[in-house]
Amino acid sequence: MADQIIHPKSNLARRAHVASFEQYEQLYAASLRDPRAFWRERAARVDWFHPFERTCRQDFGNAEVAWYLGGKLNAAYNCVDRWLEDRAEQTAIIWVADEPGEYRHISFHELHENVGRLANLLRAHGVRKGDRVCIYLPMIPEAAFAMLACARIGAVHSVVFAGFSAESLRDRIDDADCQVVLTANEGLRGGKVIPLKATVDAAVEGLPVRSVIVKQRTDTPTPMKAGRDYDFDEEMSKQRAFCPVEWMDSEDPLFVLYTSGSTGRPKGQLHTTGGYLVYASYTHELVFDWHRGDVHFCAADVGWITGHSYIVYGPLCNGATTVMFESTPVYPDASRYWQVVDDVQASIFYTAPTALRALIRFGDEPVKQYGRESLRVLGSVGEPINPEVWQWYHDVVGGGRCAVVDTWWQTETGGILISALPGATPCKPGSATFPLPGVRPMLVDEQGTELTGNDVAGNLCITGSWPGQARTILGDHERFRQTYFTTYPGRYFTGDGCRRDADGYYWITGRVDDVVNVSGHRLGTAEVESALVAHDYCAEAAVVACPHEVKGQSIYCYVIPGQGAEGVEPATIEQELVKAVRDAIGGIATPERVQVVPGLPKTRSGKIMRRILRKIAESNYEDLGDITTLAEPAVVEQIVAGHKAGKS
Ligand code: WTA
Repeated sequence: MADQIIHPKSNLARRAHVASFEQYEQLYAASLRDPRAFWRERAARVDWFHPFERTCRQDFGNAEVAWYLGGKLNAAYNCVDRWLEDRAEQTAIIWVADEPGEYRHISFHELHENVGRLANLLRAHGVRKGDRVCIYLPMIPEAAFAMLACARIGAVHSVVFAGFSAESLRDRIDDADCQVVLTANEGLRGGKVIPLKATVDAAVEGLPVRSVIVKQRTDTPTPMKAGRDYDFDEEMSKQRAFCPVEWMDSEDPLFVLYTSGSTGRPKGQLHTTGGYLVYASYTHELVFDWHRGDVHFCAADVGWITGHSYIVYGPLCNGATTVMFESTPVYPDASRYWQVVDDVQASIFYTAPTALRALIRFGDEPVKQYGRESLRVLGSVGEPINPEVWQWYHDVVGGGRCAVVDTWWQTETGGILISALPGATPCKPGSATFPLPGVRPMLVDEQGTELTGNDVAGNLCITGSWPGQARTILGDHERFRQTYFTTYPGRYFTGDGCRRDADGYYWITGRVDDVVNVSGHRLGTAEVESALVAHDYCAEAAVVACPHEVKGQSIYCYVIPGQGAEGVEPATIEQELVKAVRDAIGGIATPERVQVVPGLPKTRSGKIMRRILRKIAESNYEDLGDITTLAEPAVVEQIVAGHKAGKS
């Protein structure tokens, strides 16, 4: 069956930055003919204190990439000060509080004052250029102030998603050697209280953290440790609003953001200043077809890369009005997003398929309660979007009038690499469509041979650098090189599988490594396994991804009980181990199920056959493949029996 094609709406095309598919093709061809010239021109969108001398240096063999060499700029200056002249009173941030109807509008002028004060506050607490600062805040404007305040003085922020546990937070604070932590007494999400300060207290115990700055988000008092903990508002009131900006080199670090890979502990992806900023702002304008006056509503959390690039840096660097949403899609009911869209008159809305799948279950009524006339572009990110969900997004949420852009990218890429463009791209629901200008994807087979032409499927690589690319893993460049540049030498390996169909459309098929994507959040199976074996109820563990209707994937754990579990009921072991994972990583990693097993299917050389475990987890018992080569084939039957019993 031929795929259905949804053509760009003519009213969108008329005003779009890229107004037809021919225009896209010309732009794309030009960008590949002379990538350096292409990216040199794009750099003019940013304000440089000192011009750069060379556009790009690239050596994928050594994982060395640098952009806009010799240039000096400041990210906070570009996101804030630059707009004071002609849009000081324009709203920069619309904060949407958890409680419906509660909004706060922050103008560029106010943003400037807050960022300046906070930058001075950080300086007063000893933060200097190059120092790392941990931000563990809920979705409140102070999170954006904090990122920009760091950028202003050349400090490197490390935002940790406020759903991570004390243990995860501790690892990240320790790895980045953060001496100052910004947090809130509590967070509020969907009416639920999240005890952030208590988590920070547990996390920093014994670490050389000098100052913990605490914003009072709620009225609940929190214990403050004298000499270490400070009240945010009180400290802010002591500071003047003016703070000079630090001139940063284009390649000076802007931030570090941790993400999971297939092995070991989360990696601190380091992004630098010039290239990241050019890339985030360019792609924000291009992919969402942003025009001055448009309200940009990205419903992500600043704890993820999507929040960094498309709530804070991209939009603000373009002088946009950006929305920060503290709540959930279903609080107080399933119409919340659409209520916000109408209230703030959002033109652009950006969310993850998992949220859409959760909302579809409530039917069309909650959407139709609101008019949504302001919407023009709808974006999707984080995981493959099912064609039916794409169609619902287009027909129901967008009322058939809006463009839907499925945007593929990663923490490592800094910004979107493959996506439709609202005024230009004929879409196939479920396909991320085509690469953005300047981006060169390549499909390869297991041996690394390029799959040329169309109607091919393989692993997705990118063959040349783009400005938004992460430069290294904090403190471990060799791991960076190994992870991304050695599987297919000379190319950046994304970890994703991908199909290019007969018409050249790209379809991301999901991770080909041991990364699980739960509700659009990346988790490594190795991290979950080490959380399990740290408990004395567990001797050995194997964790696999299992398809899930709403979350996309869920976490399924097989465990062999440890010595401490002797005489303990399997049900208790399972509950305890679920809790152990939550405690070690956070609620987002909560296993769908922990199954106690007598053994794991292993080859004679001791390798766990995850393929078999995946099939069992998805109740696909018939198609387990050849199990005769296993050391103990009988164990498979026992695992299947245990899985069936657990379902009933
Ligand atoms: C997946 C999120 C299909 C992919 C920005 C990638 C997607 C991982 C899409 C990165 C998409 C992201 N279609 N899959 N549109 N967008 N992914 O680092 O597997 O949290 O490798 O960055 O999410 O997740 P990360």
